[in-house]
Amino acid sequence: MKVNLTINKRPRTIDAEPGDYLLDTLRRHNFLSVKRGCDAASCGVCTVLIDGKPTLSCSVLTARLENKEITTVEGERDEIEKFYAHFGDEGADQCGFCNPGLALTVISLKRTIQNPSDDDIREYIVANLCRCSGYVAQVRAIRRYLEETS
Ligand code: FES
Ligand code: FES
Repeated sequence: MKVNLTINKRPRTIDAEPGDYLLDTLRRHNFLSVKRGCDAASCGVCTVLIDGKPTLSCSVLTARLENKEITTVEGERDEIEKFYAHFGDEGADQCGFCNPGLALTVISLKRTIQNPSDDDIREYIVANLCRCSGYVAQVRAIRRYLEETS
């Protein structure tokens, strides 16, 4: 079947089987920033934005995305550079698996909630798991990124 959608602001018509998940569709089309982790809607590494909202691409059928707008980090280069700069400054760098999904979630937060508290930040990123940190530096870096780029 054909699905008409927009990926990173570019309209596309994609061939998809009824059972294809967006994660597989994106990686098949070389959006390789979108990672596969648990494949069970539990880790957040496959997060993309659908109509601006963070969504687990491993749990969304491509066939249901007619006319939707998909964003991966490839489509947010300017914002991603600012985001990573703040993470580097705060010593909060994360691995290549969890970072893309977290970055997209934080960009969505920036566009959704004005002046979020640290609790708002923690709640917004709750679906983006990292097995290796305590999130303290990450929350500090996110707060600085939001304060200095909003
Ligand atoms: S791979 Fe999608 S939530 Fe883990
Ligand atoms: S730094 Fe990526 S999972 Fe912890």
